[in-house]
Amino acid sequence: MSDTVSFIIDGEEIQGKKGQTILEAAEAAGIYVPRLCHMKGLTPYGSCRVCTVLVNGRPQAACTQPIAEGIVVENNSDRLTRIRKDLVEMLFVEGNHFCMFCEKSGNCELQAMAYRLGIPAPKFPYLFPKRDVDASHPDVLIDHNRCIMCARCIRASRDVDGKGVFEFVGRGIHKKVGVNSEACLGGTDAKVADKFVEVCPVGAILKKRVGYAIPIGKRLYDKEPIGSDIEAKRTGKK
Ligand code: FES
Repeated sequence: MSDTVSFIIDGEEIQGKKGQTILEAAEAAGIYVPRLCHMKGLTPYGSCRVCTVLVNGRPQAACTQPIAEGIVVENNSDRLTRIRKDLVEMLFVEGNHFCMFCEKSGNCELQAMAYRLGIPAPKFPYLFPKRDVDASHPDVLIDHNRCIMCARCIRASRDVDGKGVFEFVGRGIHKKVGVNSEACLGGTDAKVADKFVEVCPVGAILKKRVGYAIPIGKRLYDKEPIGSDIEAKRTGKK
């Protein structure tokens, strides 16, 4: 039996492989589905909803929804851009994101997503939550002000590093990424070479003593919009 699955995305028929998610199949065909919590190599989590697409008219998370023969997917439309903008704007106002002072500026997926979606400033009121910075580890710091709760660090530490250093604690607006030590990150067995250090989409987890090694203006998303590498598969620009 064939493993190929045909479906329509934005009016175009594409082929994916059985078992792929919509996001994976679209990506293989050079179609970028915006995403924040998703990262290749980590278990899909489906929390940010920035990858929302319409499948036969119903909203679904493209990073967790498997492809199926004949489905009709809408990914690129004004309606979906509005939904994604609202989600990203909520992330901005829920935390304390001061891009101009952040070491991750230009490499930050949240910032790059705002640019890609055309968000000049959030329309919602800023909450200015009181959050702390955990600089107790000799080589890595966590700035909870910038955390968007994507759970990438949790998944990387648990599934790749095999340590389970992180987990969500608290509920609602008090929810945060906690560590498995009362003495903050410095009391855990986290190491700077661990995968969790590499996966944060924003500037919440940073290595110490290497800040600004790449100057602002010369960073990944200073050069091209987020998703360009995927779209280049179709346009052949890379
Ligand atoms: S990327 Fe799919 S829910 Fe976050």
